[in-house]
Amino acid sequence: MLKPIRKAVLPVAGLGTRFLPATKAIPKEMLTIVDRPVVQHVVDEARAAGIEHFVFVTGRNKGMIEDHFDNAYELEDTLSRRAKTRELNGLKADMLPAGGASFTRQQAPLGLGHAVWCARDIIGDEPFALLLPDMLHHTAGKGCLAEMIAAYDSHGGNHIAVAPVPDDQTHQYGIVGVTDRAAKVSQITTMVEKPAKGTAPSNLHITGRYILQPSIFDLLAQQEKGAGGEIQLTDSMIRLSQTEAFFAVRFDGAIYDTGSKIGFLSANVAYAMARPDLAGDLKAEIARIMAG
Ligand code: G1P
Repeated sequence: MLKPIRKAVLPVAGLGTRFLPATKAIPKEMLTIVDRPVVQHVVDEARAAGIEHFVFVTGRNKGMIEDHFDNAYELEDTLSRRAKTRELNGLKADMLPAGGASFTRQQAPLGLGHAVWCARDIIGDEPFALLLPDMLHHTAGKGCLAEMIAAYDSHGGNHIAVAPVPDDQTHQYGIVGVTDRAAKVSQITTMVEKPAKGTAPSNLHITGRYILQPSIFDLLAQQEKGAGGEIQLTDSMIRLSQTEAFFAVRFDGAIYDTGSKIGFLSANVAYAMARPDLAGDLKAEIARIMAG
């Protein structure tokens, strides 16, 4: 019997230097896409996939994320007295269940592999999901992580979400080679973190959603520094793939890197356009701006 995927790790320790000065006092994960913080959108995706416990790997100045997922008693009391039922119900629906969130600190920016390793004691001996909060996966379907958990339920093992990128961008990502490009779920044959230009095994990039077996932690514990002088998760996944199955799950929706300015702005437009209460007015306003 496969162990279910109950826990998710969200690495939220990054400084957000690409977004200064906005991120001087505000964690980049708390910047809003329409009216929800980036990190809330990612938690929404994970909850829709059945995740019960969230492990946030935080750093200095990230306390606002913890507050966001806590009860806001005075605010709720005020909303209640003012009969703002819709707002109150919205806040309650977004609350994580008691005991459903853990916070641990990555004390030094040593890389994604190190951030994931910081969650080892809270995850324990069970497979888990990993979601990189910068990367929003937008789809009208059931959500990227839900698709991956369906693939895990059929195949077991480890899973990585992938999607094509233009050839001139492969050096910015982890890249995988697969046995069958046309398949929704395919075996991974090779992986490389940020390949030098012209050396990528394909144009399928790692999009920031993973299902990993806990055996990754032992490998991360001994992982040497890799690309960019950081402890790279991909390097430990390459070693794990020598003994365990790794599958690529192709994501067919839109992906927005909200850590980049264009990605952040595009995500705001796309998420607003998917909202019936905003789409019409926003479209008219954009047309007016474009007309100069
Ligand atoms: C990380 C991963 C990389 C992945 C990317 C997705 O890189 O190491 O494999 O493609 O996230 O955003 P980073 O963006 O942290 O450099």
